[in-house]
Amino acid sequence: MSEQQKAQELRATVAESQAERSEIIFPGDTNSLGNLFGGKLMQFVDLVGAVAAYRHARAILVVTASMDHLDFVAPVHVGDLLILKASVNRAFRTSMEVGVKAMVEDPKTRALRHVCSAYVTYVAVDQSGQPVPVPPIVPETEHQKRRYQDAQRRRDGRSDEVARKREIRKTLTMDWHI
Ligand SMILES: CC(C)(COP(=O)(O)OP(=O)(O)OC[C@H]1O[C@@H](n2cnc3c(N)ncnc32)[C@H](O)[C@@H]1OP(=O)(O)O)[C@@H](O)C(=O)NCCC(=O)NCCS
Repeated sequence: MSEQQKAQELRATVAESQAERSEIIFPGDTNSLGNLFGGKLMQFVDLVGAVAAYRHARAILVVTASMDHLDFVAPVHVGDLLILKASVNRAFRTSMEVGVKAMVEDPKTRALRHVCSAYVTYVAVDQSGQPVPVPPIVPETEHQKRRYQDAQRRRDGRSDEVARKREIRKTLTMDWHI
């Protein structure tokens, strides 16, 4: 049985790999305004997204290929309770698009404030870093089905960009071009 066939047999629902992470924001991770650094938030986004991708892929490793549509919607302050949720929107051949949403929760009222969203693409790889097939994902709810459709549209846009960058790389020297 080929790796592709083995992956096909491991098809799973979106719910089976969804991931959540909670953080209390401390002063060490903020700027002088007391807001969380964008880079730190990106790290949390990447980590929670990777957990969902790992769970779904059941691969040796997943690596982050790209992060896009990253929106910092509102600042996160010291002492805030930050909740991040991630789910695999769609699995392709060796890659998966994971949607991550971050909210700040008011512990008294449990009200949520949207602070950040992103789409992160992870690629399942073997021990030598070579991409390996991932199982198909089965969207069940209306939201999951919509995200599944939208993920294909975003992938089409990304493919053009990935191909364009590959072409540019072929013609560039090893010098800085900034
Ligand atoms: C991601 C990586 C494994 C892809 O390797 P590659 O040689 O381009 O492999 P392929 O061309 O066979 O592409 C494999 C998959 O990655 C996807 N991919 C590659 N670059 C991508 C990008 N920038 N954005 C989204 N998807 C990408 C391809 O579409 C393909 O998906 P598919 O199999 O589902 O169709 C490789 O670029 C890599 O190792 N990058 C470094 C990753 C890393 O270290 N991340 C941590 C942050 S530093």
